[in-house]
Amino acid sequence: MGSGIATATLVNTTAHVALVEATKDMHEPLAVLISEECEARGASAAGRFSIHSDVTESPEADLIIEAIPEIIELKHRVLRAAEQRLTPTGILTSNTSSLSITHLAEALEQPERFLGMHFFQPVPDTVLTELILHPGASGQTVEQASAWVERLGREAITASDTPGFATSRLGLAIGLEAIRMVEEGVASPEDIDRGMQLGYQHAVGPLRMTDMVGLDVRLAIAEYLTATLGPRFEPPALMRQMVAEGKLGRKSGQGFFEWPAPAGR
Ligand SMILES: NC(=O)c1ccc[n+]([C@@H]2O[C@H](COP(=O)([O-])OP(=O)(O)OC[C@H]3O[C@@H](n4cnc5c(N)ncnc54)[C@H](O)[C@@H]3O)[C@@H](O)[C@H]2O)c1
Repeated sequence: MGSGIATATLVNTTAHVALVEATKDMHEPLAVLISEECEARGASAAGRFSIHSDVTESPEADLIIEAIPEIIELKHRVLRAAEQRLTPTGILTSNTSSLSITHLAEALEQPERFLGMHFFQPVPDTVLTELILHPGASGQTVEQASAWVERLGREAITASDTPGFATSRLGLAIGLEAIRMVEEGVASPEDIDRGMQLGYQHAVGPLRMTDMVGLDVRLAIAEYLTATLGPRFEPPALMRQMVAEGKLGRKSGQGFFEWPAPAGR
């Protein structure tokens, strides 16, 4: 998600983008991926972005979008450090798919400058950004976030701070049911997806979407929604098994479908 958000920012604005990726081995592939993705969209990333290993080493920024794994303690730690890298009028946001924005804000010195800014796969080719408000967010922060959404050529919906917000909750419910249908032998992954595409006009089927999001990412969301909203979000055994086997979807090359070249986005 981080590289997709970086690409979308470079393509749609003149801003400088500083990407923070903890795994150093990924810096070079990410730089190549972002440059190619920008070029494919008629933009040049040359001299406009930098990659850093830790947020404490990144330049000050007007907008910071946290997009690290869905682990609340990790997000608390990184958001606390990121807050120190804001310009005096900058805002801090999280791309979390499900976690409580109110709870994330509790780690911050200035929670009024923080809100949820949720992007979708593949970021450069989708237009939606979901803004998630918490009671402590200031009106100015919401205005600034809305202005950024517009600047990024995107459209916003606004959701209250409930687990899974307005999008992940419904998207996950369909994805989990599709996995249960594979488990029960209702139809093949291809046919389940084609059914939703041709019958219900979904642009991408639920199993291909699960592959694109990442089975590990969806498992973490399912576990959080089970704990907060109830057993209807209980992850199917097949999902746990595939994650344990490293079948994470597009990023690992294998999920419900085969993905020839693992993508870094
Ligand atoms: N995958 C999706 O479709 C999707 C969509 C919307 C939102 N999200 C949310 O975005 C966030 C990231 O999801 P993802 O799919 O990109 O996860 P991912 O696991 O594919 O990528 C997370 C990246 O963060 C890096 N990282 C871990 N700790 C770090 C740290 N301390 N500093 C810098 N980098 C660190 C990891 O090395 C990894 O490259 C999650 O909160 C997820 O719920 C994901």
